Amino acid sequence: MNPQQYLTTTEAVDSAFLFIFAISGVMLLGITVAMVYFVVRYNRKRCPQPLSQKDKNLWLEIVWTIIPTALVLAMFWYGWEGYLSLQNIPDDAMEVKATARMWSWNFEYENGKSSDKLYVPVGRPVKVRLESVDVLHSFYVPAFRIKRDCVPGMTTWTWFLPEEAGSYDLFCAEYCGVGHADMITTVEALPAAEFDAWYAEKAAARPDAVALLEGYGCTGCHSLDGTAGAGPSLLGIGGSKRTVVIDGKEKEIIADSDYIRRAILEPAAEVVKGFAAIMPPYAGAIPEEDLVAIVAFLAGEDDIADGGKEGVEIGSRLVRELGCLGCHSTDGTVSVGPTFKGIYGRKSIIVRDGKELTVEADEEYLSRSIVDPAADLVVGAPPVMPTYSHLGAEDVEAIIAYLKTLK
Ligand code: CUA
Repeated sequence: MNPQQYLTTTEAVDSAFLFIFAISGVMLLGITVAMVYFVVRYNRKRCPQPLSQKDKNLWLEIVWTIIPTALVLAMFWYGWEGYLSLQNIPDDAMEVKATARMWSWNFEYENGKSSDKLYVPVGRPVKVRLESVDVLHSFYVPAFRIKRDCVPGMTTWTWFLPEEAGSYDLFCAEYCGVGHADMITTVEALPAAEFDAWYAEKAAARPDAVALLEGYGCTGCHSLDGTAGAGPSLLGIGGSKRTVVIDGKEKEIIADSDYIRRAILEPAAEVVKGFAAIMPPYAGAIPEEDLVAIVAFLAGEDDIADGGKEGVEIGSRLVRELGCLGCHSTDGTVSVGPTFKGIYGRKSIIVRDGKELTVEADEEYLSRSIVDPAADLVVGAPPVMPTYSHLGAEDVEAIIAYLKTLK
């Protein structure tokens, strides 16, 4: 038992397993020995006529009722204790959000850091909040004896205590499509000091505007990652096309900074088609500097420059957060989709309208492949990539700027 005085998931599962396994072993041995003994001892040659006429033995019946009942109840006890330990998450646990998507994992920490491996400190319980953005996945870490489904539209939880530093396999254990086998990553258990250093490094990488959006409650209805909510997602909103309803008439607009500013201050005036006009107006409820920061962030004005360093960084983050790396490697390894390494300028054979032709991956081609991947499919790759037409022009540019760096 660890010093915290609770059963870890490993202890809970192992004790139930070993107890049941030991009883099964004793039973197997006992029954086999008794059976062989009776076969030999009461062989027909040795004992042609039954001698005893006894047909009842009360004590024997009591004994063979009580012993198995006690054994089965003991097994239930171990299982129940273990189940409770798996369900009861220790109060001092560190929370991490795990997002499963076809076909990658993303882990988000309380300070806004995110990673594709699950980094944890040794000696502190970790509470994992499990979410799926598309289909059923399952979070499976054999070393900690935990396996829990990630269900779209539902939050599930699991926990574990890393007791020794090391790297532990983490799998998806629910068949989720052609890239299912690629949903493999690791839990990296680091000594506390090393973990703290990792956790603190670039913790402020998250733009302040995100904190503002959370602070004003915007993220309650508007997701930042493309998932649907009561309001449109804010992912890639800057520069995207929207159909809005003004005085009952539909109109196509581009979500530039002017539109975003209006949408925050007076949301009811131009409601995006398909959404209810339920957002409260923020006119007078938000200081100008906060508004400027939020608008600049959403419009993408503060951070994108063609191929600029910030654009590349944003592209790199988007590629990870959108789950692109689940199917496209960056090191040349073959996966579900073509590798990103050296993709810019690469010549590939594609199928367009049923005909094969060779194209060079220039900016225009890359942008089309992101927004409408099925149109020009690289020969040999399965047609499984979702369209990313909800991305704003700046986001696509940032992704391409990043792809260009992968030579
Ligand atoms: Cu995700 Cu299998």
